[in-house]
Amino acid sequence: MAHTIRWGIMATGWIADMFVRDLLIDPKTRDASDIAHKVVAVASSSAKDRADQFISAAGIPSPCAAYGSYEALVADPNVDVVYVATPHSHHYQNVRLALEASKHVLCEKAFTVNAAQAKILCEIAQQKNLFLMEAVWTRYFPLSVQVRQLIQKGEIGEVLRVISDTSFGDDVEEKWGTTHRMVNPDLAGGSLLDLGIYSLTWVFQTLYHTLPREQRKPPTVTSQITPYHLTDADEATTMLLSFPTSTPSNGAHPHISQGVAMTSIRVSTDPDEKGTSGPPIRIQGTKGEIQVFGRAFRPTSYRIIPKKGGGEVRDVECSFPGDGHGMYWEADEVARCLRDQKRESEGLPWEESIVIMEVMDEVRRQGGMTYPQKIESTEYPLHL
Ligand SMILES: NC(=O)c1ccc[n+]([C@@H]2O[C@H](COP(=O)([O-])OP(=O)(O)OC[C@H]3O[C@@H](n4cnc5c(N)ncnc54)[C@H](OP(=O)(O)O)[C@@H]3O)[C@@H](O)[C@H]2O)c1
Repeated sequence: MAHTIRWGIMATGWIADMFVRDLLIDPKTRDASDIAHKVVAVASSSAKDRADQFISAAGIPSPCAAYGSYEALVADPNVDVVYVATPHSHHYQNVRLALEASKHVLCEKAFTVNAAQAKILCEIAQQKNLFLMEAVWTRYFPLSVQVRQLIQKGEIGEVLRVISDTSFGDDVEEKWGTTHRMVNPDLAGGSLLDLGIYSLTWVFQTLYHTLPREQRKPPTVTSQITPYHLTDADEATTMLLSFPTSTPSNGAHPHISQGVAMTSIRVSTDPDEKGTSGPPIRIQGTKGEIQVFGRAFRPTSYRIIPKKGGGEVRDVECSFPGDGHGMYWEADEVARCLRDQKRESEGLPWEESIVIMEVMDEVRRQGGMTYPQKIESTEYPLHL
């Protein structure tokens, strides 16, 4: 029989809607019959009406409770796991609220504003024996799983360099102004925490996660930040990472591997939105290269290019069963972890989320970019 988990949705914004629509797609469309999802409650921070509207717009079947506060949501005994879909400035306070109420949590990326906050959340989850996961949905795509396995099998030899870009190319002043969460420092805005996390995801899931856990070592990082002139949130960030070991080889004299992670909200990875500009991700090994196509956060295909004389080029497509966005794979992972009484996901262990937050802390330190003290704080509870 399928293991059914009951979701409570915290926030009624854009990504909450996308996530819920994926939750409502029958898992059998993606050949998953061991788990099932139910959305049993939705909360808005501002008004119950907003939660009601969200439930009806997304077509969530009854019964689904609507709440006008997050406190009411985490007090609902029907909720097994809370999906936190507020701006990242608020994740620390909101996740902590749910954990303190003994709820399991899936929290949108970026996990928190800084590594200190992420560590405390993981410690609380550990102490209270609760499940906690950063919702980096891309990691749970079959495409990502396949690419990681290919690297581990040595398909492109020893991987020595990964180049990754997640850039939007928006008319920034017109589209985002100064208050939108993408550029608003009060909401931890900027390209790094919002989009750069995906560039780092590709660097980490290929150069770090593919190693056995005991061999994973944090990288050093050198970076440049271009501030957005109206708010000082970062408009563009480029990071050069150096990992002390390559993958999959880790012999007596391991090679260093390098990651180049880029993000911008003013120039685009894919200006004509037809893929003309080539792959946003290139994974380069001694025996060839894997290129990943589509957006870094929602890749649609990959290509294996063996070194000259090493065989044919192969293209592999990623389909989105049930016409979904692709967020159901991470939701399925949460369901399986809860069924198996796991506290963290193998696909993105707490330790890796924290190391990535530490990289972003260091990048902000090098670029002199700080957020308001109240959202960097680890104090709890704090009214933001
Ligand atoms: N996985 C992905 O592909 C993906 C894509 C986009 C965004 N995200 C992440 O998801 C989070 C939310 O992004 P979004 O695009 O959904 O943002 P959004 O549309 O602005 O929605 C955020 C929601 O958070 C709630 N909220 C609570 N306090 C708030 C405050 N002070 N200011 C603004 N909103 C507040 C609001 O809902 P109520 O007040 O009604 O509760 C609001 O609708 C971010 O961390 C972002 O990085 C992930």
